[in-house]
Order: sequence, then C-alpha cells, then structure tokens
Amino acid sequence: MSEATDNPLEPGSLAGKRVLVTGSSRGVGADTVRYFANAGASVVVNYRNKEARALKLVTEITEAGGTAIAVGADLTDPSSVKSMIDVIRDKFGGLDILVLNASGGMESNMGEDYALRLNRDAQVGMLQAAREILTEGSRVVFVTSHQAHFIKTTPTMDEYEPVARSKRAGEDALLELVPELKANGIEFVVVSGDMIEGTITATLLNRLNPGAIEQRREQAGKLYNVAEFAAEVAKAAVEPVPADNVRLVGDVSSFNAE
Ligand SMILES: NC(=O)c1ccc[n+]([C@@H]2O[C@H](COP(=O)([O-])OP(=O)(O)OC[C@H]3O[C@@H](n4cnc5c(N)ncnc54)[C@H](OP(=O)(O)O)[C@@H]3O)[C@@H](O)[C@H]2O)c1
Repeated sequence: MSEATDNPLEPGSLAGKRVLVTGSSRGVGADTVRYFANAGASVVVNYRNKEARALKLVTEITEAGGTAIAVGADLTDPSSVKSMIDVIRDKFGGLDILVLNASGGMESNMGEDYALRLNRDAQVGMLQAAREILTEGSRVVFVTSHQAHFIKTTPTMDEYEPVARSKRAGEDALLELVPELKANGIEFVVVSGDMIEGTITATLLNRLNPGAIEQRREQAGKLYNVAEFAAEVAKAAVEPVPADNVRLVGDVSSFNAE
C-alpha cells in the first residue's frame, strides 16, 4: 500500500468477485486494486504502456495469496479495449466491478481533443465494451475530481480546465446511460475527490500554481492522500449507491453547487 494499510473492505467480502480497475499500475488505481484483492476479489490490473509496473503489482498480490492478472490496453483504442475484454472473459468468465479510474489529458503531443477522447469517449467506450461481460448485480464506478465535477459552477486552474471540462463531459455522458444500465441490473456511481496529496497531477499543478495545494488544504480542512482516496473508491464499489449516483468525498463547501 502506498501510505495507509487499513483495508476499507471486509476481508473475504469480495471472494468470487471479478474486478477491473482501468489505469491501475500506479496511483489511486493501484491502491484500489490492492484493497479489492485484499478483500478476496480476482483483479485485473490494466496498464497502457507500463507492463513491468503492472506485473510488479500482480506479483505483490499473488505472493500475498490473491488472484491478479495484468492486461495492457490503451482505452482510446477500441480494438485494444475489445482485446482486454476478451482476455477477461477468457481468464475470469465475467466482471462484477468495473472502476473507470484511468484519466489524463495534460500530456503533450497527443492532439488537441485528446482530453475529450480519453476522459469522455474512451470512458463511454470502455463501459459499453464491458457490458458484454458485466453480470447482473454488477457495479460501475467512475472516478473524478471535485475540480471537474464542479467545473460548471466553480472555476479551476487554467492548465487543468480542459481536463476538468472533459472529465465532466465524461461524467454527464455516463450518467445518461444509467437508465439502460439499470434495466440490465448494472449499478453506476460517480466518486469525486479534491486534489490528492502526492499525486503526479497535483504536484504538477502545484508547480505551475505555487501554493495551490496549500490553498485547497486550507479550504477543505484536509486533503486525502492516494491510499485514503483509493479507500473511498473501493467503498463506492460496494456501498449503496446514492439517489443521484454521485459520492462526494470530503468537504465540498468551497465549491459552488450547480
Ligand atoms: N491526482 C489528483 O489530485 C486527483 C484528484 C481527484 C481525483 N482524481 C482522479 O483519480 C483518478 C486517478 O488519478 P491518479 O492521480 O492516480 O492518476 P495518474 O497517476 O495520473 O494515473 C492515471 C492512470 O491512467 C492510465 N492511463 C492514462 N491514459 C490511459 C489510456 N489512454 N489508456 C489506459 N490507461 C491510461 C495511466 O497509465 P500509464 O501510467 O500507462 O500512462 C495511469 O495508470 C483519476 O480519474 C483522477 O481524475 C485525481
């Protein structure tokens, strides 16, 4: 575990469940996978390029007695997503929890619309592809930030704004699918958190906007670290879904409600 070690999920509570967390070779995704595996789930560690890092996590989990596989897929490439679904069907037979954690858009040289392609189109594409193997009673979790969730009413840092707008567009597009998912017995929840201490994104934004983390910490009272936010993501996958399908983590009083 990156920082915390307490498991937010009951040991054994996910025995027999199959879980895919996208973008899980590092950061929030990696710790979320660890929590699921510790609770007895069979987990899929999805990576884009970093196979060695994903395999290291798989080894850590299997050496601790868990079940894990690493599957590479670039979520912006539908054929690679389809191949990942085929591997999961083949190895695990289906999926009970899908966590849409992978995110980006601040990379350079990826094209102007990359943030929207990854944070909206690829999220919807991933979910639609996964529906083939998601079982009745399964759960889909979309991970986002308060800076993105509240972007329509609360401005954010210039460098993050295109990402925030694209993630909110993704959230809206996924929420539109809720009625048809429900009809298939699939639950959907958004989990949103403030800037996370120690992440690459927060560190980069703080470098570009000195004092940004300190300011958010003061306004929110506390910022979560990677392990703490990952625990909230893991809980979102198992606890009852709120009526509006959105779980806001921590104090959001400094964000304007819609
Ligand atoms: N960081 C924060 O302060 C913060 C705050 C609130 C919410 N969140 C949310 O928490 C989630 C995780 O954040 P994080 O900071 O842990 O993220 P991160 O460290 O930037 O990791 C993102 C992950 O997504 C993967 N990824 C990126 N593009 C991909 C693609 N095209 N296909 C497949 N995988 C791809 C990356 O894989 P590679 O390593 O191979 O590139 C990486 O594993 C995100 O949804 C983010 O919006 C973050």
